Amino acid sequence: MRILVTGGAGFIGSHVVAALAGAGHDPVVLDTRPPPEGPEGREWVRCDVRDAAGVGAALRGVDAVCHQAAMVGLTTDFGDAPAYVGANDLGTAVLLAAMARAGVGDLVLAGSMVVYGEGRYTCPEHGGVRPGPRRPADLDAGRFEPTCPQCGAALEPGLVGEDAPADPRSVYAATKLAQEHLAAAWARSTGGRAIALRYHNVYGPRMPRDTPYAGVASFFRSALARGEAPAVFEDGHQRRDFVHVRDIADANTAALEAVAHREGGTLRAYNAGSGTPHTVGEMAEALANAHGGPRPRVTGRYRLGDVRHITASSQRLADELGWRPRVGFAEGMAEFAAAPLGDPSASA
Ligand SMILES: NC(=O)c1ccc[n+]([C@@H]2O[C@H](COP(=O)([O-])OP(=O)(O)OC[C@H]3O[C@@H](n4cnc5c(N)ncnc54)[C@H](O)[C@@H]3O)[C@@H](O)[C@H]2O)c1
Ligand SMILES: [Zn+2]
Repeated sequence: MRILVTGGAGFIGSHVVAALAGAGHDPVVLDTRPPPEGPEGREWVRCDVRDAAGVGAALRGVDAVCHQAAMVGLTTDFGDAPAYVGANDLGTAVLLAAMARAGVGDLVLAGSMVVYGEGRYTCPEHGGVRPGPRRPADLDAGRFEPTCPQCGAALEPGLVGEDAPADPRSVYAATKLAQEHLAAAWARSTGGRAIALRYHNVYGPRMPRDTPYAGVASFFRSALARGEAPAVFEDGHQRRDFVHVRDIADANTAALEAVAHREGGTLRAYNAGSGTPHTVGEMAEALANAHGGPRPRVTGRYRLGDVRHITASSQRLADELGWRPRVGFAEGMAEFAAAPLGDPSASA
């Protein structure tokens, strides 16, 4: 298949392109970044996803689109909102309209677990509950665990399924949810077929060096590279699902091979995580050990937009698309501790 990979120059997109080529497909990169220098010849369209004419030309002869291009990360400045909405939502709308015009009916979208917000919890008394936004007063006092909104009891975090209600808690999260809604609307109105892969915390070679927008694994890896101790926020007991970028690339390949067989007019969402939650503190330890120190430092600091625990069940992806993660936590973190980091894409 000939597949247009938007954001194909990025961290995840570049691994998707490699996986697709490895599986015998014909990937074409669309990205605002220039192709890397050197002999390696990938087909490359340097263009913004908001450029309707450029995207239209890039779609010629394409069987399916893998839409990775986005502005990523948790912004601290609400003034960035127009840039996020522009790149992520207007960008997706322009891309989908161009696909409709070109008659390209198959889409795999890079979604995110951020659409779930604080995730799923159980109160011993009230069963499944959704804690509200975290309060600065609690966080300042070191009360990091969300409590039952009805009785204040301690809660047990659980695995989020795809049918959990959406609860985006940042500008970025709102744009990732809107991308899914746009793709679902496109599918309904054109008869197209869409799969959204809701990635969990992706890490691995070429993860961008730390910027305020980077993921936590990059913060730690970048600190270690500077000879500094990884600074762990809160108490380090936040639970996440760290999934290796090559496993995410394989999930994209599986989704692209399956999407054309889906019923027209629908979008189906899949969590894409390792299935094995770890705490942020454990991740810092694993990286610091593999790197040979220094030991992580737990700071008690926090970011208001962060959720406490977010871990998902990726069973649907295993059951329906036959995908299995192949890179274990210890092995993946050991590799990442020594792997090169990538350049952050120009953002905000
Ligand atoms: N990294 C994670 O842990 C994670 C988790 C969940 C979801 N995602 C999603 O995965 C996708 C890829 O993220 P990444 O981590 O590889 O980020 P990245 O910044 O490394 O890659 C994004 C790429 O998209 C390109 N791009 C951005 N805006 C563009 C535009 N308007 N037109 C054309 N190209 C544009 C950038 O130049 C970059 O090469 C994004 O959609 C992101 O929301 C990532
Ligand atoms: Zn309760």
